[in-house]
Amino acid sequence: MPEQLKTALSELARTALNALNLARTKTEIEEVRVRYLGTKGSVSGLMRQMGSLPKDVRPQVGALANRIKDELTRALADRLTDLSAQSQGPALDVTLPGRRTRRGRRHPISRTIEEILGIFTRMGFNVAEGPEVETDYYCFEALNFPPDHPARDMQDTLFVSDKVVLRTHTSPMQVRTMEAQRPPVWVVVPGKTYRRDSDVTHTPMFHQIEGLVVDQGITFGHLKGVLTSFVHQFFGPDVPVRFRPSFFPFTEPSAEVDIGCVICGGPGCRVCKNSGWLEILGSGMVDPEVYKFVGYDPEQVTGFAFGMGIERVAMLKYGIDDIRLFFDNDLRFLKQF
Ligand code: FA5
Ligand code: MG
Repeated sequence: MPEQLKTALSELARTALNALNLARTKTEIEEVRVRYLGTKGSVSGLMRQMGSLPKDVRPQVGALANRIKDELTRALADRLTDLSAQSQGPALDVTLPGRRTRRGRRHPISRTIEEILGIFTRMGFNVAEGPEVETDYYCFEALNFPPDHPARDMQDTLFVSDKVVLRTHTSPMQVRTMEAQRPPVWVVVPGKTYRRDSDVTHTPMFHQIEGLVVDQGITFGHLKGVLTSFVHQFFGPDVPVRFRPSFFPFTEPSAEVDIGCVICGGPGCRVCKNSGWLEILGSGMVDPEVYKFVGYDPEQVTGFAFGMGIERVAMLKYGIDDIRLFFDNDLRFLKQF
């Protein structure tokens, strides 16, 4: 009887290993495991018969049964490993050095926008955004550019169709904001703008931040105070600022703001076109004509607006002498920020 049982066990081990070699999929391997090692499997069945064996041979047979069980368990595990290695293509070379993961960083223009918005939101401004494809009405007409007015030539417009343009500035958002709400208005609007323009300080796509404040009793003093405070927070308390009279159809009076050229520090260079100053924004008191387009009463409210070139201030802040570097996407340049 014990001899018979030993032979049966060995025979069982052989058929189990054969079955395992023939198994081609995970499911087939699992079937082999259940058939031979499961609680109702053949090995367990044989081991249950041990009770009927004479006491002195039980240990011997038991040891053999355990060895067979272990051998089968290991063979099953090996087959599963082989199978998953095959399905993953070439074998894994664990001696290869690891691959370094590179950390990305925000583009200097995005960082500049965030920093500027931070300064204005701390002064109490809200943030809004608007469409880059704009109608002639919002980009020009409601901003008091009459049709065929020469001021339209100041901005080299890219047209989508007769009445649809790529916005040349963020100022259309002045009109959209006032249409959507009543005073008091304190809003800044960052975004992309487009012009047919290209040299060391101009690109066809660039970013602006528009600012608009409308309330009772707003004066040019508020404009000067807010913008001077901005320049000193952004560039440092010692940077020279000047307000230079200018013209925009939608502001009266108007001023452009220049800061001392931080590239050359004053004597003149190719960035400041040898003037020692660099224009960073246009601004002015909102022209009463514009209020008529949005239903505000010019007798009740006054306001100021400004539009700043983001690349321009980023160049000055980081000492970059060619605006086009921002858009070359050369990693050696971008990595420095
Ligand atoms: C305007 O765009 C007016 N909308 C600004 C304004 C807003 C005036 C509100 C009054 C009230 P201007 O065309 O000057 O103005 O452009 C404003 C700023 O955008 C410039 O000072 C400059 O910093 C930047 N800028 C203009 N064209 C380009 C360009 N092609 N590339 C990069 N920056 C530019
Ligand atoms: Mg200008």
